[in-house]
Amino acid sequence: MSRSAHPAGPRHADVLPEGHYSAPPADLNALDPKVWSETVTRTDDGVLTVGGIDVKRLAEEFGTPAYFLDEDDFRARARAWRTAFGNDADVFYAGKAFLSRAVVRWLHEEGLNLDVCSGGELATALSAGMPAERIAFHGNNKSVGEIRRAVEAGVGRIVLDSFQEIVRVAHIAQELGTRQRVQIRITVGVEAHTHEFIATAHEDQKFGIPLAGGQAAEAVRRALKLDGLELIGIHSHIGSQIFDMSGFEVAAHRVVGLLKDIRDEHGVELPEIDLGGGLGIAYTSDDDPREPHEIAKALTEIVTRECESARLSTPRISVEPGRAVVGPTAFTLYEVGTVKQLDGLRTYVSVDGGMSDNIRTALYDAQYSVSLVSRSSDAEPMLCRVVGKHCESGDIVVKDAFLPGDLAPGDLIAVPATGAYCRSMASNYNHVLRPPVVAVRGGEARVIVRRETEEDLLRLDVG
Ligand SMILES: Cc1ncc(COP(=O)(O)O)c(C=O)c1O
Repeated sequence: MSRSAHPAGPRHADVLPEGHYSAPPADLNALDPKVWSETVTRTDDGVLTVGGIDVKRLAEEFGTPAYFLDEDDFRARARAWRTAFGNDADVFYAGKAFLSRAVVRWLHEEGLNLDVCSGGELATALSAGMPAERIAFHGNNKSVGEIRRAVEAGVGRIVLDSFQEIVRVAHIAQELGTRQRVQIRITVGVEAHTHEFIATAHEDQKFGIPLAGGQAAEAVRRALKLDGLELIGIHSHIGSQIFDMSGFEVAAHRVVGLLKDIRDEHGVELPEIDLGGGLGIAYTSDDDPREPHEIAKALTEIVTRECESARLSTPRISVEPGRAVVGPTAFTLYEVGTVKQLDGLRTYVSVDGGMSDNIRTALYDAQYSVSLVSRSSDAEPMLCRVVGKHCESGDIVVKDAFLPGDLAPGDLIAVPATGAYCRSMASNYNHVLRPPVVAVRGGEARVIVRRETEEDLLRLDVG
């Protein structure tokens, strides 16, 4: 491989612009197992493979951009969550992270439950055979139609998010001659993000009913009075991409405090507590996520301890990991279209997708890694910004990353850890077609969500 830098690419020895990066990695061809899925490796000539198939072949067969999902890795992570919590707790995969019928079948086979938060997610879950009693229905503004469908289907629980919804669900259940199992989602005054948790401004959000000021206690009072509802527990979700367990500790303490108040006021011990999702994953080598068994042990210990000191029997715990199951299992494969050097500034690498297949960078300033995957290279590292093809200067896929200085149009690059909130948040901005999701396993690749076509777009355009 040539050592010469691409003529349009500054070496890292040049003055570097400000950004989120550390020193270039010692070996740009190395694949950090923290950010790549289990079966990813490189062939002797440097081509990345997943599930035994190399990306050049995948690109030829399925085109780019495309998401490639490592099915063995998905199943292994789902199983790890299931076994970590054992039979005394329930794991609900948060379908908002990524949902398709194949994924629902895998979850069912691996013994997970499913959290859905719209009629569309419910329809996908039911059509792929997830038993209704293993589905939890979430959302801060479920429509009457959605509630009716969920109750008719017999979902295992509806998570109530407002005073109006308490009444709505109770009426619908009564009309349908049933009693709906429900939890009440509360806000406990903890908002956790990544490494810190902030104990202010957390109740100022659209989700849940605040514990503060007695609103949550009032919601419980009302729910307990309504014949159409069977109140089974309290739900709390404190944030996303969390590595530090201290936020959960405070949340569990406050939820258990409410359970104790409920016992004291109503003589009822609610049997369940749901601590939500939000467990972090590695997007770059700087992230250090915990293993499911460590998280399960920590959460179980926290809840048990809190219940012992409140003299309550320990409720059944449930959790709702989305990102931590599917996030690390997929990467997005792109073809490089242009490499543009702006003297003294940075190098822009444009790919054939962008904010329509990964909005997280623009939305949350999310950090990602990226690698050249159609070959190896020992060229000098070049600090790049990987951007898409959309008409927005904020159309950034990877803000700052080192790629080999000989990167050229036609090369394939891949962004790992795009399994969560990428395809599920994808859009048709600029009438760009949403990429397919291809599951790869044991030397075989199959499309589980097909690429959108121009006919799909035009079918909706009925004017
Ligand atoms: C109620 C609830 N549960 C679970 C999740 C899943 O979070 P994550 O994918 O970060 O685990 C979310 C995400 O927004 C959520 O709102």
